[in-house]
Amino acid sequence: MKITFYGHASLGIQIKDIHILVDPFITPNEKAAHIDISKLKADYILVTHAHQDHIVDVEAIAKRTGAQVISNFEIINHYNTLGINGHPMNHGGKWDFEFGTVKYVNAVHTSSFPDGSYGGQPGGFVIEGEQKNIYIAGDTALTFDMKLIPLQTKLDLAILPIGDNFTMGIDDAILASDFVACDKVLGYHFDTFGYIEIDHEQAKRKFFEKNKDLILLPIGGALEV
Ligand code: NI
Ligand code: MN
Repeated sequence: MKITFYGHASLGIQIKDIHILVDPFITPNEKAAHIDISKLKADYILVTHAHQDHIVDVEAIAKRTGAQVISNFEIINHYNTLGINGHPMNHGGKWDFEFGTVKYVNAVHTSSFPDGSYGGQPGGFVIEGEQKNIYIAGDTALTFDMKLIPLQTKLDLAILPIGDNFTMGIDDAILASDFVACDKVLGYHFDTFGYIEIDHEQAKRKFFEKNKDLILLPIGGALEV
């Protein structure tokens, strides 16, 4: 499983020859100006919640690629009205896709569309792919519900927001890593705006002191799980 960071909370996941995008917010992100969304491959687009900084490029990419959007019921209804194919889910539910199993799990956050309309409840995803399992937390506070994940899934990587202010910060992300029983963390949702700028070295040191590994990828950088 290959995971590429496209800035903010935007990810690419490749499982065998299947390409999955997560929360594409690329064209408005000046730090991601070198990423051309017209070149991104997508068979599926996972959307954690309806906030603008998670959906802004969904419509363009889905219409170009024909990708199926996977998200909560309300977000899929929204994309259906735009003629985009979607797979609706809700919290606690899982589904077997051709690339693996996806479970939509709780996040403590909000989820309105940019026009203020209802975007369902926010979530995260647990993906059990080909021999590798990952957790994409979405925008969330630290929550005890995270402890449910390792009861069923042994994670190889946890992707956690670390920018604070709108989501968990570093100290809560370290606790989240305990809750989900995964010491290998890819940080996201940081540095895009002034509210969520972090000190990279201090963040990595705090994880290291707890015998954990915080990975911060450059935009366009990738790791293999
Ligand atoms: Ni949000
Ligand atoms: Mn966000």
